[in-house]
Amino acid sequence: MKITKATSSRIGHVDFENLVFGTEFSDHMLISNYQNGAWEEPEIRPYGPLSFTPAFHTLHYGQALFEGQKAYYMDDGRIGIFRPEMNAKRLNHSAERMFMPEFPEEWFTEGLKALVKLDREWVPKAEGHSLYLRPFMFGSSEFVAARPSEEFVFCIICSPVGPYYAGDVKVKIEETYTRATSGGVGSTKSAGNYGGAFYATDQAKKQGYTQVIWTDHRNHELIEESGTMNVAFVINDTFITPPLSDRILAGVTRDSILTLLRDNGLLKVEERPVSVEEVIVAAKEGTLKEAFGMGTAAVVSPISVIGYRGTDFKVPVPEEGYAMKIKRELTNIRMGKEKDRYGWMTIV
Ligand code: COI
Repeated sequence: MKITKATSSRIGHVDFENLVFGTEFSDHMLISNYQNGAWEEPEIRPYGPLSFTPAFHTLHYGQALFEGQKAYYMDDGRIGIFRPEMNAKRLNHSAERMFMPEFPEEWFTEGLKALVKLDREWVPKAEGHSLYLRPFMFGSSEFVAARPSEEFVFCIICSPVGPYYAGDVKVKIEETYTRATSGGVGSTKSAGNYGGAFYATDQAKKQGYTQVIWTDHRNHELIEESGTMNVAFVINDTFITPPLSDRILAGVTRDSILTLLRDNGLLKVEERPVSVEEVIVAAKEGTLKEAFGMGTAAVVSPISVIGYRGTDFKVPVPEEGYAMKIKRELTNIRMGKEKDRYGWMTIV
Protein backbone atom coordinates (compact mmCIF):
# COMPACT_ATOMS: atom_id res chain seq x y z
CA MET A 1 0.00 0.00 0.00
CA LYS A 2 1.38 3.39 -0.98
CA ILE A 3 1.87 5.66 2.04
CA THR A 4 2.66 9.37 1.75
CA LYS A 5 3.37 10.82 5.17
CA ALA A 6 2.37 14.29 6.33
CA THR A 7 5.39 16.58 6.56
CA SER A 8 4.32 17.79 10.01
CA SER A 9 1.72 16.67 12.56
CA ARG A 10 -1.22 18.75 13.77
CA ILE A 11 -1.50 16.73 16.99
CA GLY A 12 0.08 19.46 19.13
CA HIS A 13 -2.90 21.73 18.43
CA VAL A 14 -5.48 19.25 19.72
CA ASP A 15 -6.90 19.57 23.23
CA PHE A 16 -7.26 15.90 24.18
CA GLU A 17 -8.88 16.89 27.51
CA ASN A 18 -11.84 18.54 25.80
CA LEU A 19 -12.57 16.57 22.67
CA VAL A 20 -15.84 17.36 20.90
CA PHE A 21 -17.06 14.27 19.05
CA GLY A 22 -15.97 14.18 15.41
CA THR A 23 -14.41 17.62 15.12
CA GLU A 24 -10.67 16.86 15.10
CA PHE A 25 -9.08 14.66 12.46
CA SER A 26 -5.81 12.77 12.53
CA ASP A 27 -2.89 13.46 10.19
CA HIS A 28 -3.68 10.85 7.55
CA MET A 29 -6.55 9.37 5.56
CA LEU A 30 -6.97 6.36 3.33
CA ILE A 31 -8.43 6.68 -0.13
CA SER A 32 -9.31 4.40 -3.02
CA ASN A 33 -11.00 5.19 -6.32
CA TYR A 34 -13.38 3.00 -8.27
CA GLN A 35 -12.88 3.45 -11.98
CA ASN A 36 -13.58 1.33 -15.05
CA GLY A 37 -15.34 -1.28 -12.95
CA ALA A 38 -12.63 -1.87 -10.34
CA TRP A 39 -11.26 -0.46 -7.08
CA GLU A 40 -7.72 0.82 -7.21
CA GLU A 41 -5.42 -0.31 -4.42
CA PRO A 42 -5.99 2.07 -1.49
CA GLU A 43 -3.33 4.56 -0.53
CA ILE A 44 -2.70 6.56 2.61
CA ARG A 45 -1.97 10.23 2.32
CA PRO A 46 -2.10 13.38 4.47
CA TYR A 47 -5.61 14.35 5.61
CA GLY A 48 -6.87 17.13 3.39
CA PRO A 49 -9.52 18.41 0.99
CA LEU A 50 -10.95 16.46 -1.93
CA SER A 51 -11.84 18.35 -5.07
CA PHE A 52 -14.99 18.04 -7.17
CA THR A 53 -17.16 20.01 -9.57
CA PRO A 54 -20.82 21.09 -9.10
CA ALA A 55 -21.96 18.09 -11.15
CA PHE A 56 -20.51 15.70 -8.56
CA HIS A 57 -22.92 12.76 -8.48
CA THR A 58 -23.31 12.31 -4.73
CA LEU A 59 -24.40 15.92 -4.23
CA HIS A 60 -27.41 15.30 -6.45
CA TYR A 61 -28.48 11.70 -5.86
CA GLY A 62 -27.00 10.73 -2.54
CA GLN A 63 -25.32 7.46 -3.39
CA ALA A 64 -23.37 7.83 -0.18
CA LEU A 65 -22.85 5.63 2.86
CA PHE A 66 -20.60 5.34 5.85
CA GLU A 67 -19.41 3.16 8.69
CA GLY A 68 -18.20 3.86 12.18
CA GLN A 69 -15.97 1.94 14.53
CA LYS A 70 -13.32 2.65 17.13
CA ALA A 71 -9.69 1.95 17.95
CA TYR A 72 -8.81 1.73 21.65
CA TYR A 73 -5.65 2.29 23.62
CA MET A 74 -5.33 -0.88 25.68
CA ASP A 75 -3.89 -1.24 29.19
CA ASP A 76 -0.71 -2.91 27.95
CA GLY A 77 -0.04 -0.16 25.39
CA ARG A 78 -1.34 -2.09 22.41
CA ILE A 79 -3.96 -0.58 20.12
CA GLY A 80 -6.99 -2.62 19.16
CA ILE A 81 -9.80 -2.01 16.70
CA PHE A 82 -13.16 -3.37 17.79
CA ARG A 83 -14.67 -5.94 15.38
CA PRO A 84 -13.64 -4.26 12.11
CA GLU A 85 -14.72 -7.26 10.03
CA MET A 86 -18.34 -6.62 11.08
CA ASN A 87 -18.12 -3.09 9.69
CA ALA A 88 -16.52 -4.33 6.47
CA LYS A 89 -19.45 -6.69 5.96
CA ARG A 90 -22.04 -4.07 6.85
CA LEU A 91 -20.45 -1.54 4.48
CA ASN A 92 -20.93 -4.04 1.68
CA HIS A 93 -24.50 -4.75 2.74
CA SER A 94 -25.16 -1.00 2.48
CA ALA A 95 -23.28 -0.84 -0.83
CA GLU A 96 -25.37 -3.59 -2.38
CA ARG A 97 -28.66 -1.93 -1.42
CA MET A 98 -27.44 1.51 -2.55
CA PHE A 99 -26.28 0.04 -5.87
CA MET A 100 -22.66 0.82 -5.19
CA PRO A 101 -19.66 -1.48 -5.73
CA GLU A 102 -18.60 -3.65 -2.81
CA PHE A 103 -15.24 -2.77 -1.32
CA PRO A 104 -12.84 -5.72 -0.75
CA GLU A 105 -13.11 -6.70 2.92
CA GLU A 106 -9.40 -7.38 3.20
CA TRP A 107 -8.52 -3.91 1.94
CA PHE A 108 -11.01 -2.48 4.40
CA THR A 109 -9.48 -4.16 7.46
CA GLU A 110 -5.86 -3.99 6.31
CA GLY A 111 -6.34 -0.35 5.34
CA LEU A 112 -7.84 0.49 8.73
CA LYS A 113 -4.98 -1.23 10.51
CA ALA A 114 -2.32 0.54 8.46
CA LEU A 115 -3.98 3.90 9.00
CA VAL A 116 -4.39 3.45 12.76
CA LYS A 117 -0.80 2.22 13.03
CA LEU A 118 0.46 5.32 11.28
CA ASP A 119 -1.70 7.66 13.40
CA ARG A 120 -1.34 5.65 16.63
CA GLU A 121 -0.37 8.77 18.61
CA TRP A 122 -3.89 10.03 17.91
CA VAL A 123 -5.57 7.23 19.88
CA PRO A 124 -6.59 8.91 23.16
CA LYS A 125 -5.42 7.14 26.31
CA ALA A 126 -8.18 8.18 28.74
CA GLU A 127 -10.87 5.65 29.62
CA GLY A 128 -14.04 6.11 27.60
CA HIS A 129 -12.01 7.78 24.84
CA SER A 130 -11.03 6.28 21.51
CA LEU A 131 -10.08 6.99 17.93
CA TYR A 132 -13.35 7.01 15.99
CA LEU A 133 -12.80 5.58 12.51
CA ARG A 134 -15.07 6.76 9.76
CA PRO A 135 -14.95 4.80 6.51
CA PHE A 136 -17.28 6.22 3.85
CA MET A 137 -18.07 5.80 0.18
CA PHE A 138 -19.77 8.02 -2.38
CA GLY A 139 -20.56 8.31 -6.08
CA SER A 140 -18.04 10.56 -7.80
CA SER A 141 -19.09 10.67 -11.44
CA GLU A 142 -19.61 14.10 -12.96
CA PHE A 143 -23.05 14.18 -14.55
CA VAL A 144 -26.56 15.20 -13.54
CA ALA A 145 -28.53 12.50 -15.33
CA ALA A 146 -30.53 10.49 -12.75
CA ARG A 147 -28.71 7.21 -13.13
CA PRO A 148 -26.20 5.44 -10.89
CA SER A 149 -22.73 6.84 -10.53
CA GLU A 150 -20.08 4.97 -12.48
CA GLU A 151 -17.18 6.12 -10.36
CA PHE A 152 -16.89 5.99 -6.59
CA VAL A 153 -14.50 7.00 -3.83
CA PHE A 154 -13.85 5.01 -0.65
CA CYS A 155 -12.16 6.92 2.13
CA ILE A 156 -11.33 6.50 5.83
CA ILE A 157 -10.73 9.38 8.22
CA CYS A 158 -10.01 9.19 11.96
CA SER A 159 -11.20 11.40 14.79
CA PRO A 160 -10.06 11.27 18.44
CA VAL A 161 -13.22 11.28 20.58
CA GLY A 162 -14.52 11.27 24.13
CA PRO A 163 -18.03 10.36 25.31
CA TYR A 164 -20.81 11.11 22.78
CA TYR A 165 -23.52 12.24 25.20
CA ALA A 166 -22.75 14.10 28.40
CA GLY A 167 -25.28 12.09 30.44
CA ASP A 168 -28.56 10.29 30.10
CA VAL A 169 -31.03 11.17 27.36
CA LYS A 170 -34.68 12.18 27.20
CA VAL A 171 -36.41 10.62 24.23
CA LYS A 172 -39.76 11.24 22.57
CA ILE A 173 -41.76 8.46 20.96
CA GLU A 174 -42.12 9.68 17.40
CA GLU A 175 -45.50 9.18 15.77
CA THR A 176 -45.39 11.64 12.88
CA TYR A 177 -42.06 11.18 11.12
CA THR A 178 -40.53 7.91 9.97
CA ARG A 179 -36.92 6.83 9.71
CA ALA A 180 -37.38 3.70 7.63
CA THR A 181 -39.98 1.76 5.69
CA SER A 182 -40.27 -1.88 4.69
CA GLY A 183 -38.43 -2.38 1.43
CA GLY A 184 -36.46 0.81 2.05
CA VAL A 185 -32.87 1.43 3.11
CA GLY A 186 -33.29 1.48 6.91
CA SER A 187 -30.89 -1.41 7.46
CA THR A 188 -28.09 0.45 5.66
CA LYS A 189 -25.81 3.19 6.85
CA SER A 190 -26.66 5.37 3.89
CA ALA A 191 -26.14 9.08 4.43
CA GLY A 192 -29.78 9.94 3.73
CA ASN A 193 -31.01 7.91 6.70
CA TYR A 194 -29.24 10.41 8.93
CA GLY A 195 -30.01 13.55 6.91
CA GLY A 196 -33.68 12.57 6.85
CA ALA A 197 -33.75 12.29 10.64
CA PHE A 198 -32.47 15.75 11.52
CA TYR A 199 -35.80 17.55 11.12
CA ALA A 200 -37.73 15.19 13.41
CA THR A 201 -34.91 15.30 15.96
CA ASP A 202 -34.90 19.08 15.90
CA GLN A 203 -38.67 19.14 16.51
CA ALA A 204 -38.19 16.85 19.50
CA LYS A 205 -35.33 19.03 20.78
CA LYS A 206 -37.59 22.08 20.67
CA GLN A 207 -39.93 20.16 22.97
CA GLY A 208 -37.12 19.50 25.42
CA TYR A 209 -36.00 16.03 24.35
CA THR A 210 -32.56 14.85 23.29
CA GLN A 211 -33.65 12.36 20.63
CA VAL A 212 -36.62 10.51 19.19
CA ILE A 213 -37.57 6.87 19.48
CA TRP A 214 -38.46 5.74 15.97
CA THR A 215 -41.56 3.63 15.57
CA ASP A 216 -42.82 1.55 12.66
CA HIS A 217 -43.93 3.44 9.58
CA ARG A 218 -47.35 1.80 9.32
CA ASN A 219 -49.02 2.42 12.66
CA HIS A 220 -46.30 3.83 14.92
CA GLU A 221 -47.08 1.01 17.34
CA LEU A 222 -43.75 -0.82 17.36
CA ILE A 223 -40.47 0.55 18.66
CA GLU A 224 -37.59 0.36 16.21
CA GLU A 225 -34.55 2.49 17.06
CA SER A 226 -33.54 5.37 19.30
CA GLY A 227 -31.95 8.30 17.46
CA THR A 228 -28.93 6.86 15.62
CA MET A 229 -28.84 3.82 17.90
CA ASN A 230 -30.46 0.46 18.48
CA VAL A 231 -32.65 0.43 21.56
CA ALA A 232 -33.21 -1.97 24.45
CA PHE A 233 -35.53 -2.13 27.45
CA VAL A 234 -35.16 -4.03 30.70
CA ILE A 235 -38.63 -5.06 31.81
CA ASN A 236 -38.54 -6.98 35.09
CA ASP A 237 -35.53 -9.23 34.55
CA THR A 238 -35.69 -9.42 30.75
CA PHE A 239 -33.63 -7.52 28.21
CA ILE A 240 -35.84 -6.84 25.20
CA THR A 241 -34.73 -5.41 21.87
CA PRO A 242 -36.51 -5.28 18.50
CA PRO A 243 -35.40 -7.94 15.99
CA LEU A 244 -33.34 -6.99 12.94
CA SER A 245 -35.29 -6.28 9.77
CA ASP A 246 -34.84 -4.18 6.64
CA ARG A 247 -35.88 -1.20 8.78
CA ILE A 248 -33.28 -1.65 11.52
CA LEU A 249 -29.51 -1.25 11.40
CA ALA A 250 -27.57 -4.35 12.45
CA GLY A 251 -25.55 -2.58 15.14
CA VAL A 252 -22.18 -4.03 16.09
CA THR A 253 -22.67 -2.80 19.66
CA ARG A 254 -26.14 -4.39 19.71
CA ASP A 255 -24.71 -7.71 18.56
CA SER A 256 -21.86 -7.52 21.10
CA ILE A 257 -24.25 -6.79 23.97
CA LEU A 258 -26.56 -9.65 22.97
CA THR A 259 -23.56 -11.98 22.87
CA LEU A 260 -22.35 -10.87 26.31
CA LEU A 261 -25.81 -11.17 27.86
CA ARG A 262 -26.46 -14.60 26.39
CA ASP A 263 -23.18 -15.75 27.91
CA ASN A 264 -23.23 -14.11 31.30
CA GLY A 265 -26.83 -14.83 32.20
CA LEU A 266 -27.24 -11.38 33.75
CA LEU A 267 -30.69 -11.06 32.20
CA LYS A 268 -33.09 -13.09 30.11
CA VAL A 269 -32.78 -11.98 26.50
CA GLU A 270 -35.58 -11.47 24.01
CA GLU A 271 -35.19 -10.26 20.44
CA ARG A 272 -38.77 -9.64 19.44
CA PRO A 273 -41.14 -6.86 18.37
CA VAL A 274 -41.54 -4.33 21.20
CA SER A 275 -44.78 -2.37 21.30
CA VAL A 276 -45.02 1.22 22.43
CA GLU A 277 -47.92 0.15 24.60
CA GLU A 278 -46.00 -2.44 26.60
CA VAL A 279 -43.18 0.00 27.28
CA ILE A 280 -45.59 2.68 28.46
CA VAL A 281 -47.52 0.18 30.62
CA ALA A 282 -44.22 -1.06 32.09
CA ALA A 283 -43.15 2.53 32.78
CA LYS A 284 -46.46 3.22 34.53
CA GLU A 285 -46.35 0.03 36.57
CA GLY A 286 -42.71 0.38 37.54
CA THR A 287 -41.61 -2.81 35.80
CA LEU A 288 -39.53 -0.84 33.28
CA LYS A 289 -36.23 -1.06 35.10
CA GLU A 290 -34.01 0.57 32.48
CA ALA A 291 -33.95 1.67 28.85
CA PHE A 292 -30.94 2.52 26.72
CA GLY A 293 -29.57 3.11 23.26
CA MET A 294 -26.72 0.97 21.92
CA GLY A 295 -24.36 2.33 19.28
CA THR A 296 -20.73 2.76 18.33
CA ALA A 297 -20.53 6.44 19.16
CA ALA A 298 -22.22 6.42 22.59
CA VAL A 299 -21.71 2.68 23.33
CA VAL A 300 -24.57 2.54 25.87
CA SER A 301 -26.71 5.61 26.34
CA PRO A 302 -29.14 5.45 29.28
CA ILE A 303 -32.65 6.84 28.73
CA SER A 304 -34.05 8.74 31.71
CA VAL A 305 -37.33 10.01 30.24
CA ILE A 306 -39.69 8.65 27.59
CA GLY A 307 -42.12 11.25 26.25
CA TYR A 308 -45.35 9.86 24.84
CA ARG A 309 -48.30 11.95 23.63
CA GLY A 310 -47.46 14.84 25.91
CA THR A 311 -46.67 12.84 29.06
CA ASP A 312 -43.14 12.25 30.31
CA PHE A 313 -42.48 8.86 31.86
CA LYS A 314 -39.43 8.63 34.09
CA VAL A 315 -37.12 5.66 33.65
CA PRO A 316 -34.65 4.72 36.38
CA VAL A 317 -30.97 5.24 35.59
CA PRO A 318 -29.29 3.33 38.42
CA GLU A 319 -25.60 4.01 38.82
CA GLU A 320 -24.87 0.31 39.15
CA GLY A 321 -27.64 -0.84 36.82
CA TYR A 322 -27.59 -3.19 33.87
CA ALA A 323 -26.64 -0.54 31.29
CA MET A 324 -23.56 0.38 33.28
CA LYS A 325 -22.64 -3.27 33.96
CA ILE A 326 -22.84 -4.08 30.26
CA LYS A 327 -20.87 -0.98 29.33
CA ARG A 328 -18.20 -1.89 31.88
CA GLU A 329 -17.89 -5.39 30.48
CA LEU A 330 -17.49 -4.05 26.94
CA THR A 331 -15.01 -1.42 28.11
CA ASN A 332 -12.97 -4.05 29.95
CA ILE A 333 -12.64 -6.14 26.80
CA ARG A 334 -11.75 -3.10 24.73
CA MET A 335 -9.12 -1.89 27.20
CA GLY A 336 -7.66 -5.39 27.54
CA LYS A 337 -8.64 -5.57 31.24
CA GLU A 338 -10.62 -8.72 30.52
CA LYS A 339 -9.76 -11.66 28.29
CA ASP A 340 -10.89 -11.10 24.71
CA ARG A 341 -12.75 -14.41 24.69
CA TYR A 342 -14.63 -13.68 21.48
CA GLY A 343 -11.62 -12.46 19.47
CA TRP A 344 -13.21 -9.05 19.05
CA MET A 345 -10.05 -6.97 19.16
CA THR A 346 -7.91 -6.61 16.04
CA ILE A 347 -4.50 -5.50 17.24
CA VAL A 348 -2.72 -3.08 14.91
C1 COI B 1 -23.84 5.59 16.25
O1 COI B 1 -22.96 5.08 16.87
O2 COI B 1 -24.97 5.69 16.75
C2 COI B 1 -23.61 6.09 14.90
O3 COI B 1 -24.30 5.70 14.02
C3 COI B 1 -22.55 7.10 14.68
C4 COI B 1 -23.08 8.49 14.65
C5 COI B 1 -21.95 9.46 14.80
C6 COI B 1 -23.90 8.76 13.43
